[in-house]
Amino acid sequence: MKRAVEIIVAESAGFCFGVSRAIDTVYKNLEIIPMVTYGPIIHNQSVVNDLEARGVEVIDDFEKADGRTVIIRSHGVGPEIYKNMDKKGIFYIDCTCPYVKKIHQIADNCRKEGRVLIIAGDRSHPEVEGIRGYGGGKVIVLANGQDAERARLSREVKYTLVSQTTLQKVTFDEIKAALDKKELDIEIFNTICSATRTRQAEADMLSKKVDKMIVLGDAKSSNSAKLYKICKDNCKNTYFIETIDKLQLNIFDTNDKIGVTAGASTSPVILKEAVKRMSELEAGIAFKNEDMNSQLVNEANETDESEDKSEETKRDQSFQEMLDESFVTLHTGDIVKGTVIQVANGEVSVNLGFKSDGTIPRGEFSENSAIDPADVVKPGDEIEVFVVKVSDVEGDVTLSRKKLEMQKGYADLEEAFNNKTPIKGKVADVVKGGIIAIIGGVRVFVPSSHASNHYVHDLSVFKGKEMNFHVIEYDRPKRRIVASRKELAAAEELELKEKVFGDLNVGDHIDGTVSRIVDFGAFVDLGGVDGLIHISELSWGRVKKVSDVLSEGDKVTVVVLDINKDKGKISLSLKNEGNDPWNNIAEQFPVGSIVEGKVVRLVPFGAFVELKEGVDGLIHISQIAKKHVVKPEDELSIGEIVQVKVVEVDQENKKISLSKKAVASDSDNDMEYVTDEEAVDEQVPEAVAVDEEVKTADAADAEAILEAEESEESAEEDN
Ligand code: F3S
Repeated sequence: MKRAVEIIVAESAGFCFGVSRAIDTVYKNLEIIPMVTYGPIIHNQSVVNDLEARGVEVIDDFEKADGRTVIIRSHGVGPEIYKNMDKKGIFYIDCTCPYVKKIHQIADNCRKEGRVLIIAGDRSHPEVEGIRGYGGGKVIVLANGQDAERARLSREVKYTLVSQTTLQKVTFDEIKAALDKKELDIEIFNTICSATRTRQAEADMLSKKVDKMIVLGDAKSSNSAKLYKICKDNCKNTYFIETIDKLQLNIFDTNDKIGVTAGASTSPVILKEAVKRMSELEAGIAFKNEDMNSQLVNEANETDESEDKSEETKRDQSFQEMLDESFVTLHTGDIVKGTVIQVANGEVSVNLGFKSDGTIPRGEFSENSAIDPADVVKPGDEIEVFVVKVSDVEGDVTLSRKKLEMQKGYADLEEAFNNKTPIKGKVADVVKGGIIAIIGGVRVFVPSSHASNHYVHDLSVFKGKEMNFHVIEYDRPKRRIVASRKELAAAEELELKEKVFGDLNVGDHIDGTVSRIVDFGAFVDLGGVDGLIHISELSWGRVKKVSDVLSEGDKVTVVVLDINKDKGKISLSLKNEGNDPWNNIAEQFPVGSIVEGKVVRLVPFGAFVELKEGVDGLIHISQIAKKHVVKPEDELSIGEIVQVKVVEVDQENKKISLSKKAVASDSDNDMEYVTDEEAVDEQVPEAVAVDEEVKTADAADAEAILEAEESEESAEEDN
């Protein structure tokens, strides 16, 4: 048999404005800031569970915020909570419903005027707890008419009555009537939220016209419970369920007319699902709501009109006006465009077309504190900003550019993580165990083992550097984002090496920067690849310590001596033709001239004398003295300054022959005449022998150097 069930959904069913606004704010900020809610954001466990799964924890004490932003839900909180959070530097987003805020204002005025506040409502409801805080010392809470009758109130005292926003109007009326009888000096504000009233009026109308009534809502929600009570009074077949799953759908009969409403904390998804499931129950079910809804709304309006001459309605109207005044076009969590008016002392003033200009405090401009806002924006620039806080009292608007930057940054990081693509960032800090890179405005941790493909002793060398990273861990709810540049650094190094090795030739003069000083020489960064200047290549003269000649960071021009592509080694020298002290040596030390020098080395066949830095000459043993000399050290000592005669200069082979004996003979005027030819004849065989010895010593040195280099590099690789 074809069934013709008719489903009518109350137009005002579900989330009210205040709850929607709070929930929107949380969902909008999920990717931007770590948050907690101060109490459940809504009396709806599935929404709370969903947010918890996304990292938004519910806390019952703001001390548990642990650095996260606290979301004040639509119920609001007392002034002492704001004060304590401000004192402790806890950041919060205030999602108190503007209707509730207005009650706070009335309560605050009441306290200032010395009146006693009376709240019609449930004393354990968080909204009532918050309002109490604004009322000051003595605040009376009346749950119903009997409470009001029993209350011991004085005609000598001035009172102000407000109501919980979700209170039933009938309860408020009972309380008001009982208080009227006491003939008190009292000002009365019916602050029942019109959203609640409309929902209740609709539920009342609807439940009178249907066979069965479904009230969707959380058992803990007082406004849902009130809706149920209203409906149950009119329709005995009223079912109060959290979701449609909790209802046996076979309770419906053919031709049933079913009404559906939902409490303020019921999400549109739950409502839609319920209607869909009931509609699918049997073929032929009719789903109708528009006509009935408009009829209901009209009836509700008529009911309102019947009351509109009352004093209370006038108060309602003034309350509404107050509410309208309190509405602002900006809300916390909004992303809006504005024009920069001024940049001063690191703060940016922005015109948003709101009654007050907004301010981006320095700390909210960028995650990178080194950035000066004046370098980025100037008056007249249009920028996008995130609204952090709108102060209803002073109209101040606090803005953030950093949070927007971070929002985009998180999206980019996630994409880089999913696609395994490199992403650029700048190293901002060195912390325990690694470095912090700012990537798209987000602080990302890079462990020290991932900072490079080599062990880096001092991570501060990376500070301020812009580099590419791989995102190796991305867990936004846990705020764990880890990056690495290990693989990228290795690839970059390889690429650079190939380029440098491809471009370099032996004999090239190239600029570089001293990157590291070691005992046996200095490493020079040639643009991503290091080459080595051995200590013997630092100067034409003798070098005792590398640091006597070079320091890390020095800019140098070096000559390429050797390139070993297989071993990845480049040998460099600071010596070049231009600074060769042997240039024009014959002019500097003409044959026959008598010059002064320092004995720097004694060998069995003579003594080497330094004539200038990098230029040593040899006094052959036969030329040390007129007498027969057995050992050079019998006549000379290291460091001794001696006068010698230049006997021969061989620029090509870099040799100078000297004679001390000739100087002595000259001075005695009894010089043994030695022709240049004789002197040369006398010296050549020894000079060759000397050269070979020196070369042998150099070769031994070179091998030792090579070993030292290799052991150092393999130690680095081990690291
Ligand atoms: Fe606000 Fe009314 Fe909802 S007071 S939170 S809009 S029920």
